[in-house]
Amino acid sequence: MQRLIAPSLLSADFLHLGDAIEMINHSEADWFHCDVMDGRFVPNISFGIPVIQAIKKTARKPLDVHLMIVEPEKYFEAFAKAGADIITFHYEACTHIHRAVQQIKSLRLKAGVVLNPHTPVMLLDDILSDLDLVLLMSVNPGFGGQKFIERSYQKIGKLSQMITEQHSSTLIEVDGGVTTENASALFEAGAHVLVAGNAVFKSPDPQDTISKLKHA
Ligand code: DX5
Ligand code: ZN
Repeated sequence: MQRLIAPSLLSADFLHLGDAIEMINHSEADWFHCDVMDGRFVPNISFGIPVIQAIKKTARKPLDVHLMIVEPEKYFEAFAKAGADIITFHYEACTHIHRAVQQIKSLRLKAGVVLNPHTPVMLLDDILSDLDLVLLMSVNPGFGGQKFIERSYQKIGKLSQMITEQHSSTLIEVDGGVTTENASALFEAGAHVLVAGNAVFKSPDPQDTISKLKHA
């Protein structure tokens, strides 16, 4: 089973974003996780298209763009042009999920749907086989450094079962409160991709922390 690590740049020092990107380039990380927040879907504003464009210039691994915005479908093309390789958008922010997924795929990007902690995985039953990935929020979206919600393990387990039953190759990504302490249990529960912000960037040796997460 795949074990991928996607450090979240939200926790990086924005004054030295270039150094953070180089660190990830040289680490065992697999993707760059980019958190886009609009101050409407979530109670925080982060960064947007020009910053993604800048990251793309030096990033040598795929950009995993997590859109925490209302009406995400209006911006898929702009984020694709800016350099996104993967786009995930929230189930709670979009009425026509099937159409939105096809839009992302027509831009030749990987497509994923994100579920907030309160949204049941069963809601994805009829779209699962169309998804490259499902991102399960294990904190309420909007901020880095929050406490992991333990109930998330059950959601990973259920989703994992649905994927097996449908013989689908959809990846499960988990975002929020991931640490070197819970990474192994998350992978064992069925996660394929772990996002980590604070655990990586607030640690004394971020590259070593990435390795520890990957081989947890
Ligand atoms: C939260 C973001 C996360 C965040 C994770 O809304 O989606 O990607 O950066 O940060 P940590 O790993 O610190 O919980
Ligand atoms: Zn995220």
